[in-house]
Amino acid sequence: MVRCRKKMQTLQFTTKNCFNRSVVPLLILCFVTPLLIIHLTPTLPREFSLNSAPEPSCENPGPRFVVEDSGFCIGNCRSECFPRVKKLCVSPSEVAYCKMEKEKEQIESTQLMPKFMRFHGEHSTIPTANSSCAQEKKGIVGLSLVADQRYLPLHKPNPHHEAEKIIPALLFKKNHQEFNHTFYWFSTPSEVSEWGKGFLEAFNMQTKVKYMNFPVRKNSTVCFEDAIVFSAGTTLYYVPDRDTNDWLRQHVLQYCSIPIVNASWPPRNVAILDRTSGSRRLKNKDMVAQILSQMLGIRARQGYSGIGSFCNQVRQVAEEDLIIVPHGSQNVNLLFARKGAVVIE
Ligand SMILES: *[C@@H]1O[C@H](CO)[C@@H](O)[C@H](O)[C@H]1NC(C)=O
Ligand SMILES: *[C@@H]1O[C@H](CO)[C@@H](O)[C@H](O)[C@H]1NC(C)=O
Ligand SMILES: *[C@@H]1O[C@H](CO)[C@@H](O)[C@H](O)[C@H]1NC(C)=O
Ligand SMILES: *[C@@H]1O[C@H](CO)[C@@H](O)[C@H](O)[C@H]1NC(C)=O
Repeated sequence: MVRCRKKMQTLQFTTKNCFNRSVVPLLILCFVTPLLIIHLTPTLPREFSLNSAPEPSCENPGPRFVVEDSGFCIGNCRSECFPRVKKLCVSPSEVAYCKMEKEKEQIESTQLMPKFMRFHGEHSTIPTANSSCAQEKKGIVGLSLVADQRYLPLHKPNPHHEAEKIIPALLFKKNHQEFNHTFYWFSTPSEVSEWGKGFLEAFNMQTKVKYMNFPVRKNSTVCFEDAIVFSAGTTLYYVPDRDTNDWLRQHVLQYCSIPIVNASWPPRNVAILDRTSGSRRLKNKDMVAQILSQMLGIRARQGYSGIGSFCNQVRQVAEEDLIIVPHGSQNVNLLFARKGAVVIE
């Protein structure tokens, strides 16, 4: 009640409200807690399997990478698709595009144009709108890859959300030589993280990136004749299978001069890789290290991931057999972890 009274002063709750606020939680506590205790009593896994999850399979596998009129899709079973539109025009107030046919229900929702795009490090949210296909303006000719800054807030580097745009663009480049591969990114090099810049360089893509200025005036509207749009978040299946992952890992490790080694089990190299700041930092690293030492007889290396140069970030994960990490965008580096490495997030 004392706490409640304090709240009353600060938040000006009515007395009735205060009563409800003390009694209702109490009732919830009495009735719900026993149920929770019954349901949440931890059941430790009896069997711990080191076999990795099976590859996704389906009855009628399609092509792994396909460019259609409606979009670019990755993965033959559980595909990740990026919308393709005609006459995409980015203006200060609107992203207009033309879609030849009515957006059919069969088209996967991820193939549909997002309702808005984001620019200026997520400061500007610009609605998208279907417009007339008959407009004259062609702008940049041919098929272009176009990315915005959705999920890329200014001064908060987010390698994972960059990867969602860059990796599909790379896979497009690798699998569709017949098209133009210019990646038009409404960003600037200073807004791309060390990870993003390093990844582009590792695949020699930096020359394919054209950083675009968001138009400040109506008369500087930027148009693309035909565009594949990288904006909305993915369902994380953009690295569709182990072969693609192996290819990415092999290329990056060679680029960073890191030996390509499979993980060993029992693990020999173990790392606890924390984040350097924010609320997701690990609070009990020493206890984790102690448990590892008791259970595996191993001294875990303590480090940080997601900081430093691209290759430094890759090396943090690529030389370990067992990796313990907090949740976060730095974990995109786990793409380059040893084959068979065990990750505890
Ligand atoms: C988009 O606009 C074009 C031309 O104006 C029209 O033919 C088409 O039906 C529209 N599509 C949708 C989904 O509204
Ligand atoms: C490909 O993109 C470049 C750079 O924007 C452009 O100069 C060139 O004309 C394009 N080529 C084709 C075939 O569309
Ligand atoms: C766009 O309009 C501004 C004035 O509103 C003008 O100063 C500028 O020269 C115009 N730019 C082009 C490319 O027409
Ligand atoms: C790593 O493991 C794979 C099977 O997962 C095997 O094909 C490959 O030869 C191994 N590579 C090395 C270097 O041992």
